[in-house]
Amino acid sequence: MSVVEEQSDVVLPVGSAELMPPEALARYRAFMLREAPKIESDWLQVDIYKASIEGLDHSMVPRLHELTVSVFWPHRAPDIALMVDIGSGYVALDQIGRPLSSAMSFPADEDFAMLGMMVTTPRLQAQGTGGRLLRRVMRDQAGRDLRLSATRQGYRLYESAGFVKVGTVSQHQGRARAIRPPETPQGLLVRPMEPEDLPSLRALDAHAYGAKRTVILDALLKVSEVVVAERGGEVEGYAMLRKFGKGRLVGPVVAEQDAVAMQLTGHFVLAHEGEFLRCDSMTESAAFEAFLSAAGLGVFDTVTDMRFGRKRRPESGPQTYGLALQSLG
Ligand SMILES: CC(C)(COP(=O)(O)OP(=O)(O)OC[C@H]1O[C@@H](n2cnc3c(N)ncnc32)[C@H](O)[C@@H]1OP(=O)(O)O)[C@@H](O)C(=O)NCCC(=O)NCCS
Repeated sequence: MSVVEEQSDVVLPVGSAELMPPEALARYRAFMLREAPKIESDWLQVDIYKASIEGLDHSMVPRLHELTVSVFWPHRAPDIALMVDIGSGYVALDQIGRPLSSAMSFPADEDFAMLGMMVTTPRLQAQGTGGRLLRRVMRDQAGRDLRLSATRQGYRLYESAGFVKVGTVSQHQGRARAIRPPETPQGLLVRPMEPEDLPSLRALDAHAYGAKRTVILDALLKVSEVVVAERGGEVEGYAMLRKFGKGRLVGPVVAEQDAVAMQLTGHFVLAHEGEFLRCDSMTESAAFEAFLSAAGLGVFDTVTDMRFGRKRRPESGPQTYGLALQSLG
């Protein structure tokens, strides 16, 4: 990768290391060095189990699904298959093929990757397995700014690996109530996406996400219903809805204004009244959060948006109101 700066053993895109707190970089160095000679090894000892570290491919979808069920994540097998389609990673298997732990990365552009799908089966947690796989995916993605959504259980591990807090993601979910957004911005039309809207949708998304996630968007477009917000011939925002977990997930939602984000999300809320909907919101907009709660999607949990490297999310212009999924950002 041409845009790589190696400051000592910290490998990040040029300009990123300066934007990290020095103490976080020190934690990263200590974390990566903890087992430096072993990071590339395909074996590890977990408790009484000798485990092999295998690259993820489609044959591993049932095992990865088994792991996520063990920590009560709601993913269905097709949700896991989608993750394996668009990302790469590892699963640690014991000697009779039972899954012990997993970790994945989802690269976008040349210099950015999202990390996710980190799970260790409950009985074997806190024995270094998650850390081992995290080091491996961080090593694979060296040269990229990294981001992840940390659960309470994962926070300490990511902090010790050098990640720093950016913000809070609120997981809203529940049975949708037919609530209309408070105001319709003048001239705004929410309508199904047409093929000619795609370049605008991709541009909005790249700005809000902080990287061009072509592979991820293409995969989401295949399995999602998509609406755009248009005003005066310009596409100002978009939202997707797809089957996920217990029902359907609204996301990504990208817009520049709260009122537009609410119109986009409201479209799906009205269309699915009484059904289970989820929206992982990544916004400081109290109005958007209040709208979701009023529409029956109360806050079920929160996770922490963390970065290693540059922040990437923009301060102005189109913003991410709803994530594609916590593991996808
Ligand atoms: C987060 C998770 C993947 C970590 O895996 P792991 O194999 O336990 O990781 P490690 O053994 O390398 O532990 C790393 C650190 O996390 C801590 N930790 C592990 N399990 C924990 C738990 N259940 N609660 C709180 N802290 C925990 C460990 O004590 C360790 O900290 P230390 O190095 O300061 O002692 C695992 O706890 C898990 O699967 N949790 C449920 C699913 C989840 O929340 N995944 C994270 C998604 S972002």
